[in-house]
Amino acid sequence: MIINKYNGCFKGEMTVPGDKSISHRSIMFGSLAEGETNVKNFLMGEDCLSTIGCFRDMGVEIEVSGTDVKIKGVGFKGLKKPEKTLDAGNSGTTIRILSGLLACQNFESRIDGDESLRKRPMSRVADPLNDMGADMECTNGKYPPVTIRPVEKIKAYRYVQPTASAQVKSCLLMAGMYGEGTVEIVQPEISRDHTERMMKYFGIPIEVEGKTVRIQKADVFKGKDIMVPGDISSAAFYMVAACIAKGSEILIRDVGLNPTRTGIIDVLLQMGGDIEIENERLENEEPIGDIRIKGSDLKGIEINGDIIPRIIDEIPIISLAAVFAEGTTVISDAEELKVKETDRIAAVCDELSKMGAKITPKDDGMVIEGTSKLSGAAVKTYGDHRMGMMLALAGGFADGDTEIDDIECIAVSNPDFFKILDTVKQI
Ligand code: S3P
Repeated sequence: MIINKYNGCFKGEMTVPGDKSISHRSIMFGSLAEGETNVKNFLMGEDCLSTIGCFRDMGVEIEVSGTDVKIKGVGFKGLKKPEKTLDAGNSGTTIRILSGLLACQNFESRIDGDESLRKRPMSRVADPLNDMGADMECTNGKYPPVTIRPVEKIKAYRYVQPTASAQVKSCLLMAGMYGEGTVEIVQPEISRDHTERMMKYFGIPIEVEGKTVRIQKADVFKGKDIMVPGDISSAAFYMVAACIAKGSEILIRDVGLNPTRTGIIDVLLQMGGDIEIENERLENEEPIGDIRIKGSDLKGIEINGDIIPRIIDEIPIISLAAVFAEGTTVISDAEELKVKETDRIAAVCDELSKMGAKITPKDDGMVIEGTSKLSGAAVKTYGDHRMGMMLALAGGFADGDTEIDDIECIAVSNPDFFKILDTVKQI
C-alpha cells in the first residue's frame, strides 16, 4: 500500500471498534456460563474471530450479526473435545488463556497458530500450569503447537509472576476456577485486569488485594449481557495523530478507560498533549468515557517502571509521537516488546530509521531524538498489526510517499483503521 503525505489536520468525532481483550474474554466466559450471553460492540478483528472459532470447535453455538454476538453457554463443564487442532491464528491472548482452561477439561486438546504465534513463548504459561498439576507440552519445550492432556486435579498454588503479564495471569485464573484450593497470583506490577472484572461481573469468586489476585473453585454461573467499550489501544493511534497534526481536534466516544489501560493518556499528557476526558461512566464493571484531543506541542520524556504494562501495546505509536516531540524520549523496562507479534523494539527502530527518524534500540527499549521530520520510504510491518497502523500514520506525516508491505495485518485489531481515519481527515 502507498501512503501519501497528509496536508491537513484531523477534526470531528469517531468511535473505535470494541476492545480486543474484553471481546476475547466475553466469548470465554459466555461459553462457560449457563444460558445466553449477548455481547454488543464485539471486535470483529481476526484475533477475536480466532477465539470464536476455538469455542465453536468445542461445541459452543455462537451467532454473529454485525458487531452483536449471541453465545449459547454450555456451562462450566460443558465444553466438548474438539475434533481437530484448535487454531489461535495470530492471537497470543487466545492460546495463552485457553491453555489454562483446557488444562482442566476431561479431554486432550492441541492448540496451534500462525508463523508469528509459533515463535512466541508458551513456557510462561506451561511451567506454572504444570506446577499446578496440569499436563501441558510445548513444541521444543517452549512454543506452539501445544498439547494439553487431562489430569485428575489442579492443586492450590501461589505464583509470583517474574514479569507482568495479563495473559499469564488470566491463564492461571482460568485453571484456578477448576482447582481444588486457592490459586494466588502475585504481580510485579498490575497488568490489565479485564479477567478479574469479568469474573466479578459473572459472580465467580475472585478477590483482588493490591497486586495479589486470588481465586477459589467456581460454581455454575449464568449468562449475562456485555457491552464492549471501544478499544483504547485502537484509539491510541488516532490520539497520537491528532496530537501531532497542528489544528486538530477530535472526540473519540465510548472508549474503555480501565486504569490498567490508560497509560497512553498519562504519557501523552506528560509529553504536553492537550487531552480531556468527558462523560465518564461504568458499564459491566468497566470504566468508559469520551476522549477529546487537540493538536499539541509535544516534548520528549522518560518512560519506564510500572507504567510499562499500562502502555505495553501502545509503545510503537508512542515512538512515533516521540519523533514529533521536541527533545529526547527514553523508553526503558520494556523487554516484553521483544516477544509480541514481532520483536517490536527491533521492528520500530529499523522501520522508523528507514524513514529518517533518529531512533536507537536498547536492550529494554529505545531512545528517540525528536526531529519532527520523516521521509517516505519502503517499510515492513513484519505481519504485526500495530506496526502496520503506526507506519501508516508515519507515512502520512512523512515527506514523499511511503510504501508499506502486508498492511492487511491491521485486520487483527482494527479492520476499519483507514475508514475511521478518513472520517476525520481534513484535506
Ligand atoms: C493482553 C495482554 C497483553 C497485551 C495483549 C493482550 C490480554 O499481554 O500485550 O495485546 O488481553 O490479556 P501481556 O500478557 O504481556 O500482558
